[in-house]
Amino acid sequence: MDIRRSKALKGEITIPGDKSISHRSIMLGAIASGVTEVHHFLQGADCLASIDCFRKMGIIIENELDIVRIHGQGLHGLREPETVLYTGNSGTTTRLISGILAAQNFESILTGDESIERRPMTRIMIPLKQMGAHIESIKQNGCAPLHIKGSPLSGINYNSPVASAQVKSCLLLAGLYADSPTSITEPYLSRNHTELMMKSFGVKIESADTLVTIQPANQLSARKIVVPGDISSAAYFIAAALIVPGSEVLIKNVGINPTRSGLLDVCQDMEGDITLENIRQGNVEPVADILVRSSLLHGIVIEGAMIPRLIDELPVIAILASFANGETIIKDAKELMVKESNRIDTVSDNLTLMGADITPTEDGMIIKGGKPLNGAVIDSKADHRIAMSFAIAALNSDGLTTINGSECIDISYPTFFRDLSELIR
Ligand code: S3P
Repeated sequence: MDIRRSKALKGEITIPGDKSISHRSIMLGAIASGVTEVHHFLQGADCLASIDCFRKMGIIIENELDIVRIHGQGLHGLREPETVLYTGNSGTTTRLISGILAAQNFESILTGDESIERRPMTRIMIPLKQMGAHIESIKQNGCAPLHIKGSPLSGINYNSPVASAQVKSCLLLAGLYADSPTSITEPYLSRNHTELMMKSFGVKIESADTLVTIQPANQLSARKIVVPGDISSAAYFIAAALIVPGSEVLIKNVGINPTRSGLLDVCQDMEGDITLENIRQGNVEPVADILVRSSLLHGIVIEGAMIPRLIDELPVIAILASFANGETIIKDAKELMVKESNRIDTVSDNLTLMGADITPTEDGMIIKGGKPLNGAVIDSKADHRIAMSFAIAALNSDGLTTINGSECIDISYPTFFRDLSELIR
């Protein structure tokens, strides 16, 4: 994909459904009793991988694009898959589904693409084994492919070393099947979509600060879910409108769950002109429309409990920081190294190519903003968030930017380039 400096972005945009919530709707819908109807489901490759895995276990899922209907078969209604469960590029599918598979009365093999086969799975294997699960890395390297032999599980109290919603959600799903309550404590609170959706399906689950406790369940009740727009996808348009002079964009129907909305706080701290309008309670989670106007930004420090609230937005925040006056320091973000790519490296290498002053650190990066950026050939490393972040950087850079491997945007936002071009027409 080739991109050049853009004129001002103007107009309104509605963002596709939230990826995390779409995944969870499939998983809980499949093990609920009754039909779960999901509106504004994200038709991205990651969420389609979740659908595919549950279809392989006998669940009927009707996908009519904007509405998805999952014919849940109850907690014990999954069938042994006849083939390997293939999760593509999706860490969420791989880690969350493992919690369900660990408790079934059958065996399964789970794997994904090259990136998935590099991502750490010991973070779920260790606590799942404590619960009594039989889960092994087939290559003995702590990564997928995983062999999971379902078995009876017991509840545990787990002190997670990482603030990861994927780890927490895996254990909560396993905890549904355990013979006693399961508690998880995280160093900082990660996104709580699983907790909120489980509660709305009738599960007994209580949260207090960074501790969550789930009671074993007898039944989940199917329900209608309306998925809010994904704030992680909205992030690209928020950033574009902030950095391209003269822009004014209204981004409609965006999920603003506080465990996900760190980007909004950071943009406001950087003195970005952002207003939330029409704040309302959606059918499971809060939503708002976000009005963004171009702004002169200032560097800030981003660290600690803020990091899990914007972990997927850090690549595009690094772009914002390059256009801001002064220094931005991102720390406590080691997790960036184990995402779809090593995002400390992919962000620093590509921003350096564009002429930015960026220094990678062992847990983040330091960016001295304000240097004009030039176009470059960007290697996305097949990481959707890298491809989209650098497409945004290109909008306010001199010359031509070419994003190699830009088709990876299909993972989370298949219509990204079309939606972007509508705002610069
Ligand atoms: C996700 C959690 C985050 C995030 C990922 C989606 C989820 O990962 O980076 O894109 O849906 O639970 P971690 O939980 O590993 O931080």
